[in-house]
Amino acid sequence: MTETARIDGKAFAAGLRSRIADEVAELGRTHGLKPGLAVVLVGEDPASQVYVRNKAAQTVEVGMASFEHRLPAETSEEEVLALVQKLNADPAVHGILVQLPLPAQIDSSRVLSAIDPAKDVDGFHVVNAGRLAVGLEALVPCTPLGCMMLLKHHVGDLSGLEAVVLGRSNIVGKPIAQLLLQANCTVTIAHSRTRNLPDVCRRADILIAAVGRPEMVRGDWIKPGATVIDVGINRVPKGDGKTRLVGDVAFDEAQGVAGLITPVPGGVGPMTIACLLQNTLTAARRQAGINGQV
Ligand code: GUN
Repeated sequence: MTETARIDGKAFAAGLRSRIADEVAELGRTHGLKPGLAVVLVGEDPASQVYVRNKAAQTVEVGMASFEHRLPAETSEEEVLALVQKLNADPAVHGILVQLPLPAQIDSSRVLSAIDPAKDVDGFHVVNAGRLAVGLEALVPCTPLGCMMLLKHHVGDLSGLEAVVLGRSNIVGKPIAQLLLQANCTVTIAHSRTRNLPDVCRRADILIAAVGRPEMVRGDWIKPGATVIDVGINRVPKGDGKTRLVGDVAFDEAQGVAGLITPVPGGVGPMTIACLLQNTLTAARRQAGINGQV
């Protein structure tokens, strides 16, 4: 039986935010620069409203400027594109995030492509995806960036390790595979058409679960001692009319098998907004021609 340790993403994210706050204060003192993040929310999706509120609160907490743009659900694509152009041209705005999903009448890919790649703090623009793929300096999607920070801190050198990424989304699966490859892992991307999925997962020294299926990864899919990063956030019924959050990994079954695991909640989730702030700081520095590292 392996001793399973939990990776505390909540504590790590709090530490990262505090380092970012120090850097923001320093930038203000030395360069008179205040990084600014604009968030655009179209419509009234309740989950998106919670995300946007949390983003704005944490942006202000680290000393950055927060610009919130809430538009009605019936807003046209042209209106959203016009707002993005305005934000692209605004020197007080260093990062732009358009909250997804967008209402059906708006083509998300057209909107994401309209964002200035230098201000694309989500890292969703094809220019940033391409730069990441060829190993150039890029803005990296926040959840993959957070996963890599946790891995590098808790595992250290990843060179030569077998990494299996479950899920091939543009937001998590593909970019995290690129980052693991850059860290010299042997990377497999598995997905819904992969044959013998449990066998593929059992090869992994590092298993990233990012499929959005509650508790799909069973305990016997995990190699003893492996590091498991659970990106899933699934709300499931609890039986008493309430709901609870579970990941893509059957957490209880992973106990005694995995060496290290991120819990849900409190694992990867809190890292995403902290990395959004990190990307905003990075974008502000690059736009002002200032180097530095948090
Ligand atoms: N909706 C849910 N998560 C995200 C995210 O990380 N970025 C954006 N833009 N929309 C989201």
